[in-house]
Amino acid sequence: MTLPASVRIVEVGPRDGLQNESRPVPLAVKVALVDALSEAGLPAVEAGSFVSPKWVPQMADSAAVMAAIRRYPGTDYPVLVPNLQGLEQALAAEAREIAVFAAASESFSRRNINCSIADSLDRFAPVVDKARAAGLRVRGYVSCVLGCPYEGDVAPAAVAEVAARLTAMGCYEISLGDTIGTGTPGKAQSLVDAVAARVPVERLAAHFHDTYGQALANIFAVLEKGVAVVDASVAGLGGCPYARGASGNVATEDVVYMLNGLGIRTGIDLDRLAAAGAAICRALDRPSGSKVARALSAR
Ligand code: HMG
Ligand code: MG
Repeated sequence: MTLPASVRIVEVGPRDGLQNESRPVPLAVKVALVDALSEAGLPAVEAGSFVSPKWVPQMADSAAVMAAIRRYPGTDYPVLVPNLQGLEQALAAEAREIAVFAAASESFSRRNINCSIADSLDRFAPVVDKARAAGLRVRGYVSCVLGCPYEGDVAPAAVAEVAARLTAMGCYEISLGDTIGTGTPGKAQSLVDAVAARVPVERLAAHFHDTYGQALANIFAVLEKGVAVVDASVAGLGGCPYARGASGNVATEDVVYMLNGLGIRTGIDLDRLAAAGAAICRALDRPSGSKVARALSAR
């Protein structure tokens, strides 16, 4: 068994986490969260999304977030973009990286972005072209890689096909989203095997929601397969507005603690990260979804 020597963690709490908050989150709270995560050493902090505010009102102030955050030299601030309209806003906000998001299941694609998988890929192609021509990096997400809230099981081959299409379009990395957290370690490994036959494993990222408590085990399983990029959300914030019952992403604190224990470098200061998580939990008046954060705060 060889594990990677270092892992890049992509913090998605300010986007994947806060997009699912039922109450409005003040701009200043979002900005403080992103800045605190940068200060904790996160190499990437997904800062928001330029989607329709009718669909996801929680992200309507993403331009203001991008304008107010401090941009740390060692940190990337990707934003989600579903179409050319979103790209225009991302460019105006001086984003240096965007993420497009497709799904491996038809029903989820329609619920999330109101079109079929094929139509979404046709829509993303000019977005990726234009973004790259402007010098931006483009990440690709595939949702429902280990199960769909509407269709149940999803074939790994379907995931591999969408991942290969996004890579051919010019996405530098594909984040495999277990949107509803139903995956288990053996299935996660088989999935990586299937996708890695089409997209080099160095270009894959793992995005596990922790709905069934499997996320850390799944991450360890895919590290064994050579995946070295992991998405996580501070304090386990989040869910997905179009996947009922989906709980937050795996907590960043829990991932960093596990990687520290394995001797895998992340460049992240766990105490500062936990402080960032404690601050957002105070602001939202909710308990932390991170067991590590709870244990650290009880010391
Ligand atoms: P639509 O209704 O089919 O779009 O939505 P449309 O092109 O017909 O436009 C309808 C209206 O939306 C128009 O306004 C547009 O101007 C406006 P109106 O004329 O009615 O006033 N509009 C926009 N406004 C702002 N920014 C835009 C934009 N585009 C259109 N970019 C659309 C299609 C894709 C826009 C919509 O379905 C949408 O915004 N969906 C986003 C859903 C979303 O954000 N989901 C959560 C993120 S994905 C996720 O969480 C999964 C992930 O974490 C991985 C995982 O866990 O699996 C990434
Ligand atoms: Mg997600």
